[in-house]
Amino acid sequence: MERRDFVKLCAGSAAAASLPTPAEAYSLKARLHKRTRLVDERGAPFRLASMKTGVNYVFDYPFASTPCFLLRLASPATGGIDLQTEAGGTYRWDGGVGPQRNVVSFSAICAHKLTYPTRQVSFIGYRDRPSAASSTGKVITCCSDRSVYDPAAGARVVAGPAPQPLATILLEHGGKRDELFAIGTLGGEMFDQFFQRFGFRLELEMGSRARDTVAADSVVREMSRYSAQWAQC
Ligand code: FES
Repeated sequence: MERRDFVKLCAGSAAAASLPTPAEAYSLKARLHKRTRLVDERGAPFRLASMKTGVNYVFDYPFASTPCFLLRLASPATGGIDLQTEAGGTYRWDGGVGPQRNVVSFSAICAHKLTYPTRQVSFIGYRDRPSAASSTGKVITCCSDRSVYDPAAGARVVAGPAPQPLATILLEHGGKRDELFAIGTLGGEMFDQFFQRFGFRLELEMGSRARDTVAADSVVREMSRYSAQWAQC
């Protein structure tokens, strides 16, 4: 069997030495969920080589109803960035996967009031940087209250009211096979709050499957094929 020559976590756990550390701060560890292969809409492996730079891809993980962004950035994301959740959990984001370390993934549930891409419409997405945000490169913007997250910096908040970064989705890249796997999360997960607020609606749409963990495979779609409408702001 071909030796898997890759395994690169998007993030590891470490104390955030450079952040102002409240007395109650604590170090967050990665949470491993089901190892899920990312596939295209035909069920074939979704290969990194097929990813277009700057396109907003979406897949569901770690639950069948919780969307995540998958992005190929224009520049390497080398990580080493210390982040903190609203509750004081600290962690280090170790950057992207792939040969150029520019493939990153984050939960698409806004850390402010849980806006997320639905099948009907998405108010949150990867777009050109608004003038309020410094530096260059595309960002993840939530049109609900204009929070802006920088995907090249672990989805830290660069503008708006969001109290913490988007949760990181941990990826593996399968070297010669060029496959991508989601394996876990790191940071401020919002899944409990998400199901509390939207569980009834999700079950109407998806039945009991809404709270299931994803299957062995999860389908990656461009945002335009995940949500019928993409709201601009
Ligand atoms: S819900 Fe996203 S900024 Fe308020």
